[in-house]
Amino acid sequence: MKGIIFTELVEFVEEKFGFDVADRMIEASLLENKGAYTQAANYPFEELVAIVTQLSQITEIDMGVLIETYGRHLFDRIVGLYPPIVANFTSSLPFIAQVDTFIHPEVKKLYPDADLPSFQLISLSERELIIDYISNKPLTPLARGLMLGAADHFGEMIEILEDDTIHNAGQLARFTVRLNG
Ligand code: HEM
Repeated sequence: MKGIIFTELVEFVEEKFGFDVADRMIEASLLENKGAYTQAANYPFEELVAIVTQLSQITEIDMGVLIETYGRHLFDRIVGLYPPIVANFTSSLPFIAQVDTFIHPEVKKLYPDADLPSFQLISLSERELIIDYISNKPLTPLARGLMLGAADHFGEMIEILEDDTIHNAGQLARFTVRLNG
């Protein structure tokens, strides 16, 4: 996984839970680099799992909840680094609908070695989006958090239903995203 996912995670934990928790989390995860990540480098996905597992034990918060909260926070951070990505959008549903056709392809230009998930758009109307997530990693909570972050960014409220009855260890899911209000 790209280093930016790790650098932002460490910062998120410092901000949300404090430096003490961040230090304990890094120590307990037995990381080779002791949490000193570089944005453009790549690190094993297992390291992310190790870090979030430790954070979950320290904070007694469910891992899925932690990853979703992190994703929501991450959205504005990464968009802040590449503002052109949101420039032509005014609303979250059309933006999320283009994750596979515009957003992640733009990310690929910046980071050719990024290992990105696939999304397949099923339908899009003014108030509802249905999109499938297909990945080699079980990161549906991150997808959900990024979608919530997109809604925050555009000043909207959304409700996300996740159907993973087609479940494959969290690597396949159908999201129904509804605009509220
Ligand atoms: C709501 C919109 C978005 C969704 C739902 C989404 C979803 C995801 C998910 C779930 C992953 C984790 C990898 C996986 O599951 O296999 C991921 C990775 C990533 N995404 Fe997105 N994303 C969104 C928008 C963005 C934006 C706006 C950016 C940058 C400006 C971005 C940059 C990245 C990067 C750099 C990675 C890491 C790739 C790697 O580790 O190699 N994403 N995205």
